[in-house]
Amino acid sequence: MSELVLSGIRATGRLHFGNFLGAVQNFVKFQQADNTCLYFIADWHTLTTLDNPEELRGNLIEIVKDYIAAGLDPEQSIIYSQSSVPEISELCLYLSMIQPLGELERVPTFKDLIRKNPDNVNLGLVTYPVLMAADILGPKATLVPVGEDQVPNVEMARSIANRFNKRFGDTFVVPEMMAQMIKVPGLDGAKMGKSEADNAIDINSPIDQIRQRYLKKGITDPQRLRVTDPGDPYNRCQSVYPVHELVTDGEVDTREIAQACQSAQIGCAACKHRLVDSIAKILEPFQEKRAQLAGQNDYVKDVLHEGGKKARARIKATVESVREKMGIVLY
Ligand code: TRP
Repeated sequence: MSELVLSGIRATGRLHFGNFLGAVQNFVKFQQADNTCLYFIADWHTLTTLDNPEELRGNLIEIVKDYIAAGLDPEQSIIYSQSSVPEISELCLYLSMIQPLGELERVPTFKDLIRKNPDNVNLGLVTYPVLMAADILGPKATLVPVGEDQVPNVEMARSIANRFNKRFGDTFVVPEMMAQMIKVPGLDGAKMGKSEADNAIDINSPIDQIRQRYLKKGITDPQRLRVTDPGDPYNRCQSVYPVHELVTDGEVDTREIAQACQSAQIGCAACKHRLVDSIAKILEPFQEKRAQLAGQNDYVKDVLHEGGKKARARIKATVESVREKMGIVLY
């Protein structure tokens, strides 16, 4: 079946290995002949929490380079920034007219964001899911892959689409959601995070540095005091074995490393070395392409410009029909 796949990412920081495995690799997989893929940088959404223009501008370009180096092909996928399509904000305005405020105040991501930014509870945070609905419904996405934390926001987009269709007649496609279940633990065992904890693996840092970080900071089975003690890779190893399952070829089938740990045939340091070897296999080809893009800001801007035009054409058509249905005439 052919899908219109859409997903976005905020430009609050640089991508880390968790984003790479959990999101970007997935985006690349959807890039197949039958599908149309739209991947964008949600720069307006970024403004809800980031108030540093230089950082925003820089992050945006660097994330696009990461996308391309990871295998997103601008010829195949539409890569753009949200703000290249002003009609998205117009659509957000229309959708806000049919969205009860109370529901927005109960969205978990909203509660989470105000907990993290108690001094800046701006209106943008409240309308966040409505803007996200405009992102999704504007191009009529059929499939929206997102991290688990974004599930309530996509639910909200689905409910807005249904409400609008009921009130004004069939207009929007109600998208299917696809929650990405891959959870990548950071060095401390907690979910790998963008900026908060110093637990993330930077996909652009040299492999040697990644190795040092795992050797120094990676937390294994705390009850395994000596190499000769049997380890418990499944329950007690916090940040190394769970990543092996995600990146080490064949491990899920053979459980070779898990068994070696359980029988004390491999020590934690050796296990970390093997993990970083597996990570290197994934990141080295990426970093090679990424290095070629390093000085290519003009190319990246071109990609965004072309992507913006393509996305805009799709979204414009939807917004025109929304205006008409709601009674707005542009004189
Ligand atoms: N809110 C998403 C996040 O923080 C980013 C995003 C914005 C998005 N608009 C979207 C994701 C539309 C999917 C579809 O990760």
